[in-house]
This record gives sequence, structure tokens and C-alpha cells, in this order.
Amino acid sequence: MRLPLIVAVAAAIAHARPRPPPSQTNCCALLEDIYPDKVSYPGDATYVQETQNYWSSTCVLSPTCFFTPDVTAEVATAVKLFTENNCKFSVRAGGHHSSVGAASNEGGPVIALTNFKQKDVDPVNNIVSVGPGNRFHEVYTATDAYNKVAVLGRYAQVGTGLLLGAGLSYLNNPEGLSVDNVVAHEVVLANGTVVVASRDNYPDLHKALKGGGDNFGVVTRYDLKIFDYPENVLGGLVTYGEEAMPFYDDLTYNYHVDAAVNDKSTHILPQWGYNGATRQRESFTPFIYLKDQPQLPPSLQPWVDVPWVHNTIRNTSALAPLSFENHDGYVNGDAQQQRTITVYADRAFFKEISRLYYEFAQRWAHIDGFYALHCKMPITPFMVEKGIENGGNVLGLEGIRRPVSILYFGVQAANIEDAPELFKAQERFVENLRDLARRRGLLHKYIMWNYAAYNQKVIDSYGPGNVAFLKRVSRKYDPTGAFQRLVGGQKIPN
Ligand SMILES: Cc1cc2nc3c(=O)[nH]c(=O)nc-3n(C[C@H](O)[C@H](O)[C@H](O)COP(=O)(O)OP(=O)(O)OC[C@H]3O[C@@H](n4cnc5c(N)ncnc54)[C@H](O)[C@@H]3O)c2cc1C
Ligand SMILES: *[C@@H]1O[C@H](CO)[C@@H](O)[C@H](O)[C@H]1NC(C)=O
Ligand SMILES: *[C@@H]1O[C@H](CO)[C@@H](O)[C@H](O)[C@H]1NC(C)=O
Repeated sequence: MRLPLIVAVAAAIAHARPRPPPSQTNCCALLEDIYPDKVSYPGDATYVQETQNYWSSTCVLSPTCFFTPDVTAEVATAVKLFTENNCKFSVRAGGHHSSVGAASNEGGPVIALTNFKQKDVDPVNNIVSVGPGNRFHEVYTATDAYNKVAVLGRYAQVGTGLLLGAGLSYLNNPEGLSVDNVVAHEVVLANGTVVVASRDNYPDLHKALKGGGDNFGVVTRYDLKIFDYPENVLGGLVTYGEEAMPFYDDLTYNYHVDAAVNDKSTHILPQWGYNGATRQRESFTPFIYLKDQPQLPPSLQPWVDVPWVHNTIRNTSALAPLSFENHDGYVNGDAQQQRTITVYADRAFFKEISRLYYEFAQRWAHIDGFYALHCKMPITPFMVEKGIENGGNVLGLEGIRRPVSILYFGVQAANIEDAPELFKAQERFVENLRDLARRRGLLHKYIMWNYAAYNQKVIDSYGPGNVAFLKRVSRKYDPTGAFQRLVGGQKIPN
């Protein structure tokens, strides 16, 4: 069935006359006719396994089938079929986004990119070609062998969907955001055409994908820059308890405005959590220093001069184990909600934010499996410059003259029944904090896709110029708006 014209007309009149709901079962059946071995249904081993590939239990929905393609041409056939038949569908890579309905759906097919395991290192041109089914530890392992590293995420099991939003990583301070270090995207467009978008070919699509997420197609390969690092670098995790908390925001602020700016080999992920079971704050802080050093550099030293519980900072030449160490404790299966706003780095406000989230967290300690996590992560003017140098993105961060801080707020509950009330309260907390930041003159409009909740207006936050650009790119590469109508997640505002 070829219906693109009818689909376009239907889209145009959608507001006036709703289409009859598409028969979702039929969409899986249509696909099964072509790929009988790659479509799985409830009860099938593959279906059960794919259902477990979601970090938050709230993201485990009831799709009719999982489609597990092996090559790009199979993705292309599926996407074309879904577009032509008006099938609502989803795309999933590592399953770590906590946004409900982004990487799964009720009653439709999910394209699970699990089998896209390519990780080809080109040490001469300094590129690693990564299939979207990889978890980051797999990519680290592949590049560790060459003493090279790509700008990925920091946690072993997180997936490549990170590369569509922004991306905070070990190399942010010298090289900028993860999206800015993608040199080419292989993309399946809505009509099944496959293109490789780069600065030279389809540059508008390439730029739109650097923050525009899943709005333009299915990415089936990322070509990423890789960078040399010395045989010995420092890396590890420092565990802190309550004793360190009085110092923690000073250290965090100093990292934002000093080390992140002046000693770019440093990477720290400042974060603390409140554990409902112990009613204590604690921190498992990842550190990395991408230089050979006889001792701890001044950028890291202050972090071990405060009381710590456990410290694994060591000489190492392998980054994959660090990604595992960081990931320890972040298991799939709890109900998770992440929210984020951005503020200018400010010492007093940093302390106030931590105090307020601590107060919030203590009120929910009684919930089974309760955990509240808070991170403050810098984006420096230099990082933004790097992005511009690499061809630009759509995030709208240009023009910051001092570091901004991505504020991360996470809440976790063991039982999904506790989620609605807790999540609503956390939403109110973050919105109130946003108002407070605005009143203080410290709010930056940016909302980072990677850590945003389903109802945060991510793409709006990029600003009107970028929104208009994304609309143009969408009309050009997806004229019937298939990825706007049929796929969930963060959409381009009307
Ligand atoms: C424990 C943990 C640690 C994290 N650490 C970091 C970190 O260090 N730095 C950071 O920046 N972020 C981090 N994140 C956030 C992370 O960037 C997002 O959760 C990201 O979406 C993960 O990608 P995924 O492939 O696992 O997710 P998925 O849930 O599979 O995908 C996320 C979204 O992208 C879409 N998508 C994925 N792949 C494709 C594709 N190939 N084509 C089209 N659409 C696609 C999906 O449809 C979905 O809407 C972390 C999250 C967790 C839970
Ligand atoms: C790391 O190894 C190098 C080279 O072997 C050595 O000079 C340095 O002292 C070591 N650093 C630490 C912190 O152990
Ligand atoms: C598919 O869409 C792209 C982008 O709109 C277009 O350039 C191409 O010609 C289309 N291909 C077919 C076969 O319709």
C-alpha cells in the first residue's frame, strides 16, 4: 500500500476530522509478513528480554511486538511500512531515558536496535563508527585498545540515545558536548530512504540531529571523533557520607568556575543522593583526569581533603572499567523520574538548591526503595565554542559568558504504585525551583533533553530561531510529519 499523498492530506486536515485509529496489531502483522523471525510477541523469549531493557519500570509499556532488525535496510523497510500505514511506533536503543512513551508504546511496534553492535575504530582518521545498539562500556572497550576515547556518557549500560540530546561526558571540558563530536549520522528517513548526514552532506539534517533527538528519523550509525589519551590517566570513584555534605557545594561550585574552565583534563560529576533506607545523604562521585600525573592535580586534591569513606582514584589506562564502576547500583526495574533545569553557576544558590532538595527528599523517606539524586554539571563557554567550531547544534546555548549548571533531579521508588504522587510532588518542586531561579536572575532557559521529563518543553527551550530551523528540517526530510505524528518523545512544538 502506498499512501504518502493521502497521509499528507490527512495530516493537514487532522485537526478538523480525526482519522480512525490505525489497527496496531495489523502493523506488526504487516512487518511479520516480511520478517517472520524478527518480530516477537508477548510470551516470546525476545519480547520478554526486550521488555527488560528499560531503566525505569514506568517506561515498560505493552507494545504489540518488538522488531529486532540486524541491518539498516530492515529498519528502512519497517519505517517506510509504518509511515505508509500510519502505524504509531517507537524506537529504543539503551532504554535509559525515563520519559514515558518515548521508547515504547501501548499497542504498537517497537523497533529495538539491540542488534546494531558495530564499533569499528579507525585509528588513522580518529573515528569510531558506533551502532545504536551498543552500551557505552562496549564502545569504551573498543577504543581503550587504542588508548583513544570518544565523547560518550559516563555510565557503562547507558545507550546511544544520549547522542541525540546533548551528552555529558569525560571529555566535555576540552571537547564539548557529545552531540558536537558526532561527525556523521546514518539516518533512515520516514520514507525509508537512508542518508549519511555530515557537515558536507545533508548538513541541515546533521545539525538538527545535534539536539533534535528522535524527530527526523532512525539513526542506524554514529561516526564519532576519538581522542588520544596517555598510557596512564587517573580515574575512580570517591564515596562520601554526611560528613562531606557541608563542603560539597563549595567543591562543586569551584569545579564549575575554576577546574572545568582552567584545567580541562579534569572531569568530575558532582552529585549526592538521599537514601530513604538509611535516611542519610551519600555521594558516589566519578573523577577522571586525562593526563599522566605523578600525583593528584590541584583540581582534584580538594575533593580528597574533605572526609571521604572510600576512594578508588588510581592510575589506569582502561576507561571501560571506570564506566562500570560509575554504573554500579543503577539497576533497571525501579520507577524513575528525572527532571532538569539550567542555572548560572552561583555559590550561594548551589547551597540553597541542595538544602531545598534535601528537605524535599526527607519528606518521602517512608516510600519503599526511595532515593533522590541531585547533580550539578557544568557547561562552560569553551564547551559551547567547541560546538560552534564543530558545525553548531540547535541547543541555543550560544552567548553564555560564564558557566551554567545543568541541575539534575531524580526520584526513585521501588513500587510503581508510589510513582504518581511522588512524581507529581517532584514536578512541583522543580517548577518552584525554576521560579526561584528566575526571580534570582540565575535561570538559563535551556532544558537538557537527556535528563528531561516527558512533559518538560525541551525543544521550546532551544529558542524560536532553532525551533523554526527544526521545523524547516522536519518539513524537508519528513514531509508528512511521520516522526511528529507517529513517534512519541520530545516533539517539535507547533
Ligand atoms: C544511570 C544513568 C546514567 C546516565 N548518564 C549520563 C551521562 O553520563 N551523560 C548524559 O549526558 N546522560 C546520561 N544519562 C541520560 C541519558 O543521556 C539518556 O537517558 C539517554 O536517552 C539514554 O539513551 P538510551 O539509548 O539508553 O535511551 P532510550 O530510552 O533507548 O532512548 C532515548 C530516546 O531516544 C530515542 N532514540 C534512541 N536511539 C535512537 C535512534 N538510533 N534513532 C532515533 N531515535 C532514537 C528513543 O526513541 C527515545 O525517545 C544517564 C541516564 C541514566 C539512567
Ligand atoms: C601513575 O603512573 C605513573 C607512571 O608509571 C607514575 O609516574 C605516577 O606516579 C603514578 N601516579 C599515581 C597517582 O600513582
Ligand atoms: C524520501 O524523502 C527524501 C526527503 O524528503 C526525498 O529526498 C526522497 O526523494 C524521498 N524518496 C522517495 C523514494 O520518495
